[in-house]
Amino acid sequence: MSDRGVAVVTGGSSGIGRACALRLAQDGYAVVVAARRAERVQEVATECGGRAVTCDVADPVDVARLVEAAGADVALLVNNAGGALGFDLFEADDLSRWEQMFAANVMGWARVTQGLLPALEAGDGGTIVSISSTAGLLAYERGAGYCAVKAAESMASDALRLELCGRPVRVCDIAPGMVKSEEFSLTRMGGDAERAAAVYAGVAEPLTEQDIAECVSWVAGLPRHVNIDKLTVRPVAQASSYKVHRQG
Ligand SMILES: NC(=O)c1ccc[n+]([C@@H]2O[C@H](COP(=O)([O-])OP(=O)(O)OC[C@H]3O[C@@H](n4cnc5c(N)ncnc54)[C@H](OP(=O)(O)O)[C@@H]3O)[C@@H](O)[C@H]2O)c1
Repeated sequence: MSDRGVAVVTGGSSGIGRACALRLAQDGYAVVVAARRAERVQEVATECGGRAVTCDVADPVDVARLVEAAGADVALLVNNAGGALGFDLFEADDLSRWEQMFAANVMGWARVTQGLLPALEAGDGGTIVSISSTAGLLAYERGAGYCAVKAAESMASDALRLELCGRPVRVCDIAPGMVKSEEFSLTRMGGDAERAAAVYAGVAEPLTEQDIAECVSWVAGLPRHVNIDKLTVRPVAQASSYKVHRQG
């Protein structure tokens, strides 16, 4: 039963986005799953009884289609599409990866949010939950590009919250630390499974994608007058980007 209204989840084909789609469907939303890989988007939509929209959030035409498919009244937008590309020192970094990261994490955030804003404001109002990162809170070496895009995404949410004050749209920015999700580190390391595994080496319990879905569900389910501005979520083993307890 979909009595909570429509929830749009970008980057819903894997990891945190997929977990959010499944969790929000359980919560009673009619979920619209969006990402680039059509087959995987369809699989997740089928799993959660929702609708699939193949969409590259960096492509204005795709985003217009997503907005159209979502309809005139959207209760919840989970801005999750994106991720990191590369883990290299700045001086050797491939800046075309920066362009891709900005296109997905920042411009994708902007296009989807701007496009869906009228539908989020319609009816009983709506909630925007964006998945930024602790990378946007504190810089780390080899992370210049990713830290920059996540800081931008997070600041854009803050500015939007100010602009929407007095209107029925909540704006929440969730900044996760280390999440051992399906593809994040593998994508970041360009498919190098060894480098990807090293990210989580010795960490007893990194966050899971379900942990973040639980946070999204909680934020969205709070009474309508409650806005969680920012939520920083880390595993207990990670006290900061620089302080991670590793066994062995
Ligand atoms: N894992 C972590 O440690 C961590 C920590 C903090 C924040 N985050 C953030 O959490 C979000 C989800 O990451 P994840 O850990 O779940 O990684 P993931 O498994 O790699 O998922 C990334 C998702 O984003 C989609 N995506 C990427 N570029 C896109 C684009 N241009 N248009 C539409 N969809 C796009 C991917 O699907 P397609 O390839 O099918 O398009 C995929 O569904 C990202 O924004 C990431 O930066 C992750």
